[in-house]
Amino acid sequence: MTIFGHTEFDGHELVQFVHDPASGLRAIIAIHSTVLGPAGGGIRFFPYESEAAAVADVLRLSKAMTNKMAIGGLPLGGGKSVIIGHPSTDKTEALLEAFGEAVERLGGRYICGEDVGMRPEDMDVVARRTGHARGTSTGSGDTAPLTAHTVFSAILAAVAHRSGRPVLAGHRVAIQGVGAVGARVAVLVAGAGAEVLVADVDRGAVERVVAEVGATPVDVDEILAADVDVLVPCALGGVLSARTIPTIRASVVCGAANNQLATSADAERLHTAGILFVPDYVANIGGAYSAVVGGADRARRVADGVGPRVAQLLAEADAAGISPSAAADRRVAEILAAAR
Ligand code: NAI
Repeated sequence: MTIFGHTEFDGHELVQFVHDPASGLRAIIAIHSTVLGPAGGGIRFFPYESEAAAVADVLRLSKAMTNKMAIGGLPLGGGKSVIIGHPSTDKTEALLEAFGEAVERLGGRYICGEDVGMRPEDMDVVARRTGHARGTSTGSGDTAPLTAHTVFSAILAAVAHRSGRPVLAGHRVAIQGVGAVGARVAVLVAGAGAEVLVADVDRGAVERVVAEVGATPVDVDEILAADVDVLVPCALGGVLSARTIPTIRASVVCGAANNQLATSADAERLHTAGILFVPDYVANIGGAYSAVVGGADRARRVADGVGPRVAQLLAEADAAGISPSAAADRRVAEILAAAR
């Protein structure tokens, strides 16, 4: 495994491997860019099958945070961290405190928050050792509602781009993963009159959404290929790949999961297949607004800008004859170049 030559390295400013033998902490902190400000990004606590998988994930996630902050107009750079281990068995207070010390040693270049496998109470423990932790139980609170709001706005903008009207009535929408964000998106799209199909490895999560919005449950292996108009990935990254894209029947893909594209080539693959893909880092910015913009009302007002931004991005992409991902990446490059 190489680091500087890694396919996901992309000029990272810093990649730090953190080891604390006493607590068993093994973590990687990646700072992709501080051009726009200190690097912001969550801590993912995950039982990676290999160190190589952890490195690849942290590099991709941290770069996506640079894109997200830049397009979202936030004065922050991009970073991310991963703690290697199982959140239900390896997470101890000593380990989280050791992680907090590592963040503190970076002197504010990296501001951490929650991600998969971390909860506000865990962030409270991290925050005992660093002033650069957000997402604590007394902080901004649950980011999922605003994330669901911006994903929903992005879906409406994409549907309007395709059909001329931001109307979901008469459309079928498939949601992969009905956790904190996906379940809320289900409520919003059902409220807008769409027929909703859902799949989740957690049966209880499916049952709750079925009861709440009358959604139709679908097998987890079949949701990506469901016969729908809109596919909403809200579970894992890497779900849009050379293997899955040919099976997708939706004409719009727009969801919350970070890094839905397995590789950057998959953006072109979707484009060629005539599938309109809204880049995840554009659609799921609500979580970052919720964590960073002070005051729930203000955050909501800022988040209301996402629908028009997506509409503009899709129009730009069409005008240039490129995919929305290419248009978004180009915009990010311009923003960073102007700030340098
Ligand atoms: P969550 O953990 O509450 O929900 C994820 C759901 O996906 C769970 O119910 C899980 O059982 C399900 N799932 C896992 N593997 C699956 C599979 N193979 N097939 C179907 N379902 C599967 O997470 P949350 O907060 O809802 O986030 C969803 C995604 O959105 C994640 O990828 C997260 O990184 C991303 N995201 C979340 C934000 C937030 O504010 N919560 C902000 C930006 C991105």
